[in-house]
Amino acid sequence: MNIGDIKLSDVLNRLEFDIRINRAVDEFFLASQLMQEALSYDDVTFVPRFTNVYPKDVDVSSRFSRNVPLKIPIVSAAMDRVTRYKMGIAMAKEGGLGIIDKSMSPEEQKEEIRRVKYHLNCPIEGPITVKESDTIEEILDRADERGWSFRSFPVVNEAGNLVGLLTGNDFDLCDDPSQKACDIMTTGLITADRTTTPDKAYRMMVDEGKKVIPVVDGGKIVAMYLLSDVKRTMTESYKAYNVDENGQLRVGAAIGDGLDALDRLEVILKAHPDVIVIDTAHASTTNAVRTLREIKAKYPDLDVVVGNISSAVQAAELVKYDPDGIKVGQGPGSICTTRKITGGGIPQVTAIYEVYEVARAKGIPVIADGGIKYSGDIAKAIIAGAHSVMVGMMLAGSEEAPGEIVLSGSRQMKDYRGMGSLAAMRESRQARARYQQGEVADEKLVPEGVEALVPYTGPIANTIVQLVGGLRSGMGMAGAANLEQLRDQVTFRKMTGAGHLESHVHDVKVVNDPPNYHKPGSS
Ligand code: XMP
Repeated sequence: MNIGDIKLSDVLNRLEFDIRINRAVDEFFLASQLMQEALSYDDVTFVPRFTNVYPKDVDVSSRFSRNVPLKIPIVSAAMDRVTRYKMGIAMAKEGGLGIIDKSMSPEEQKEEIRRVKYHLNCPIEGPITVKESDTIEEILDRADERGWSFRSFPVVNEAGNLVGLLTGNDFDLCDDPSQKACDIMTTGLITADRTTTPDKAYRMMVDEGKKVIPVVDGGKIVAMYLLSDVKRTMTESYKAYNVDENGQLRVGAAIGDGLDALDRLEVILKAHPDVIVIDTAHASTTNAVRTLREIKAKYPDLDVVVGNISSAVQAAELVKYDPDGIKVGQGPGSICTTRKITGGGIPQVTAIYEVYEVARAKGIPVIADGGIKYSGDIAKAIIAGAHSVMVGMMLAGSEEAPGEIVLSGSRQMKDYRGMGSLAAMRESRQARARYQQGEVADEKLVPEGVEALVPYTGPIANTIVQLVGGLRSGMGMAGAANLEQLRDQVTFRKMTGAGHLESHVHDVKVVNDPPNYHKPGSS
């Protein structure tokens, strides 16, 4: 074909995926794709609209994967310096989600997940029981020895079936400690089954005048609701928590894409994570697809997210295997050197757009992973097509992150590192495998990340309040009452370098850093 013969429709046909004009931002990206551009957060700004939407009224709820909701669209990264159980608990309490990283043994990872799931203790899973033939003295001695501060014990018979209950009152009013549990226990119990929610348990307690409701399955006690725990679930702050239908905090867990991934999965599923993330730096591979297919076939009810990818062609291949979420990001991360080392990867705003355009036909949520530096980047990620953002650097300095506090001059810092940094890869085979170097000897490792320090930021609540507050302000400016409207109704303009400079603080010396802004390059 001669150049003179090329028509606009020929050019459009050469685009790697169909762009339909459904969303406000589609026209912007049609032009951008024709220019073969790859844009990132600092290249774009959204166009404000006339609005009667105010930040305090907007709804920031979203989904991480098809069946895992979020009350805020923020997820903590599956990295060894970001998400272990403390971060998992804190993120779920903020309404988001933590993805427990995989650079540990499957048993250790199971324990980390379990600590998040059982943190609220409502109901208490597998409560400690006593036998009906135990004497009160024996039970109190055992409680002292093992440091149990509670005094509510389900009583079981020889066959292990629930026959009664001992509570603080029974112990307080017992004047003969040689009596057996069966002599003083309360019988005729009101019990619940596995379908009972904390709300329903509370109603039963009020209606029946009971402070304890055992949960029974086939005659055996499997869990137990206590009034004090149930009441805690009715506080205002609890309403913001991201909890599952059993009232337990939600948590996700990462696995690799190697042959051992299913063995790890089998172990960690015993702790009941809400979602599994097949986590690799390049998920557009036969290994990642094989792992996804095997898990979907073996556990059809489990939500499985896969990542990372950064283009429409990669997404087109992955969606064939019906993941429940796709994670986008090849090289945008603060500690990443992937684009410099490999020369590849698509800047994040274009990457999110391309993947979402392919994924949305199948209702697959998109997670924008890496590169978030300001709250404004979250709104931009969502306008491009994301349902949530995954964050490493912005949380790595928090109290709940596993890194060590170190002093740099007089400033408190925490260590943060890429999972593809030399140190992380040397320490963990899982980290090496994320960068397809599972079998490579230490001296031949090719890192794709760095070891770094970030400022200590205190509890994550400090950071989340700024990130969500900034998102809310952005939604007010965009006239979007919820994240769907933000994604569908708002568009971008491209910014020049001058626009970018103008967007930052300029021509002044900052004397007091605000909690949500730090100019790059300033100390
Ligand atoms: P931020 O920008 O939030 O990014 O710190 C976190 C995300 O970066 C990815 N990640 C890496 N990417 N080399 C990379 O190219 C690395 O060593 C590395 N470690 C983490 C990961 O997707 C994470 O969620």
